[in-house]
Amino acid sequence: MCGIVAYIGKKEAYPILIKGLHRLEYRGYDSAGVALLNEGKLTVYKCKGKVSELEKFTEGKSKAGTIAIGHTRWATHGVPNDVNAHPHYSESKNMVIIHNGIIENYASIKAQLVKSGHTFLSDTDTEVLIHLIENIQLVENVKLGDAVRLALNQVIGAYAIAIMSKTNPDELIVAKKGSPLVIGIGVDEYFVASDATPIVEYTKNVVYLEDEEIAFIPRKGELKIKTIKNRQKTPYIQELEIQLEAIEKGGFPHFMLKEIYEQPRSIKDSMRGRLSASKGAVKLGGIAEYEQKFLNAKRIIFIACGTSWHAGLVGEYLFEDLTRIPVEVEYASEFRYRNPIIYEDDVVIAISQSGETADTLAAIELAKSKGATIIGICNVVGSSIARATHAGSYTHAGPEIGVASTKAFTAQVTVLTLMALHIANLKGTIPSSRFQQLVSEIEAIPEKVEKVLATNDQIKYIAGIYKNATNALYLGRGFTFPVALEGALKLKEISYIHAEGYPAAEMKHGPIALIDEEMPVFVIATKGASYEKVVSNIQEVKARKGKIIAIVTEGDEQVKEMADYTIEIPETDEILVPLVSAIPLQLLSYHIAVMRGCNIDQPRNLAKSVTVE
Ligand code: G6P
Repeated sequence: MCGIVAYIGKKEAYPILIKGLHRLEYRGYDSAGVALLNEGKLTVYKCKGKVSELEKFTEGKSKAGTIAIGHTRWATHGVPNDVNAHPHYSESKNMVIIHNGIIENYASIKAQLVKSGHTFLSDTDTEVLIHLIENIQLVENVKLGDAVRLALNQVIGAYAIAIMSKTNPDELIVAKKGSPLVIGIGVDEYFVASDATPIVEYTKNVVYLEDEEIAFIPRKGELKIKTIKNRQKTPYIQELEIQLEAIEKGGFPHFMLKEIYEQPRSIKDSMRGRLSASKGAVKLGGIAEYEQKFLNAKRIIFIACGTSWHAGLVGEYLFEDLTRIPVEVEYASEFRYRNPIIYEDDVVIAISQSGETADTLAAIELAKSKGATIIGICNVVGSSIARATHAGSYTHAGPEIGVASTKAFTAQVTVLTLMALHIANLKGTIPSSRFQQLVSEIEAIPEKVEKVLATNDQIKYIAGIYKNATNALYLGRGFTFPVALEGALKLKEISYIHAEGYPAAEMKHGPIALIDEEMPVFVIATKGASYEKVVSNIQEVKARKGKIIAIVTEGDEQVKEMADYTIEIPETDEILVPLVSAIPLQLLSYHIAVMRGCNIDQPRNLAKSVTVE
């Protein structure tokens, strides 16, 4: 995890770094730090806490420098404190490093360095790397760039690093493997960051560094790239597509609320150019060349983590129902380590908002090595997962900044629906009348989501009633079971209330024991095949004096009579209900968390992009 940012050029670097670090805080916020090089003096400021703490810490201190590096941390090795905060000095204190990733063999390298007299100040793996680099430079008597290259050949693990040295005041050295790194090219200036958000307001020209590449970034002149095996590479300059407005709050108090409200648009964007009700067709250009693989597939395996895994579960219901291809849904972290059975005719669909999740990436590599076809569903264009897959469809939801995923989830489910519909149409597993009907229904979803957003005041009122709950249960059945899981996850993530999602009928086998008059039970009881069954499950909760808050289809009377509170959502086809029913649960969690005074966009201990396993 962690966010890294760096600058070299003519401007004062500190304000650029601080702004960039704020944008990267979604990657971690355990500590923050900067190092500035000015007139031969190397200064490091770093402290525990968020970037705003760092700003307070540096108030009144000299922050001059036109070459600098900065970091926001999500702790792995070493507790979050001032000492473990990045940047880290080398033994001589002549050079500094920032790092995102994990150096897995740091302990053995550290032991050797300690033997040869090195003293370490922190518990981090990162400090070991900069000591190693300096040691190689001295022992081998090589230039800094060569020392970096030789050191990176010795390390096992993942890294995106930036290094600055007193002896090279006009050069930044950066490298990556496994963790993302983008270089922005301005006029006589360069920017470096973990993603493009700190760069976009200065330049649209960027180079995404590939794994095992090192970039030598001069104050003036051209950027040079070579691999850690010492092969020269020509930088491939791309134009950024994101707009500055997309990464700002636009008048909303929190990114999460902004992103919830963006859903009518983001769902539309994820369908744009892909769907034509009049022509009765779905077009997914990204997977066009892989359609045959889907048609031949004996099995589809979804791999993902967190909210994206919940989208995969919706995908299971969709693909099995529409395409009749058997589906498995796997946590990437489990899949990669349990010697899974993977066939060459499997289609593996990796779902990831960030496109950087380390476990998902590793699971992809494993499935790829067994000959399976890998399809990606990512939000971040050009991300590592998008590049590691054979083909895929972007979700086009726009940047998601709030750590709790909202619009990315509905965009993933939208793309999965289109994909399942398209394959079903090609396979002939659904009649064309059903295909047409679903295409028209899905086109109407953004408007229906808009209607749900209009019930915000009522949802806020309900949030006020249950804001002090210590436990909550979320129930759903069929297509809404994954929504129940996602609803519970949203509440846990941002309000720190213990919540569990369950298939409504499974409640009898355990969670029912928890129900009492204090316990809110959120039930998705929309019209569909299991409606009557869910009604019975609601009765079971009522009989134990549980409080029922039901998400129902507009006009429903039966559940309304039984529930303590109901939230109506517009009617849609059962297979599309996840897209509409997820919205009130997102809003509910949001309001509860606000009322409890929680940090909405940066909940404790979490990070948006999990680049460590
Ligand atoms: C983190 C985020 C979640 C996200 C999960 C998977 O835990 O906080 O919101 O669902 O990672 O991330 P991905 O980027 O692969 O969808």
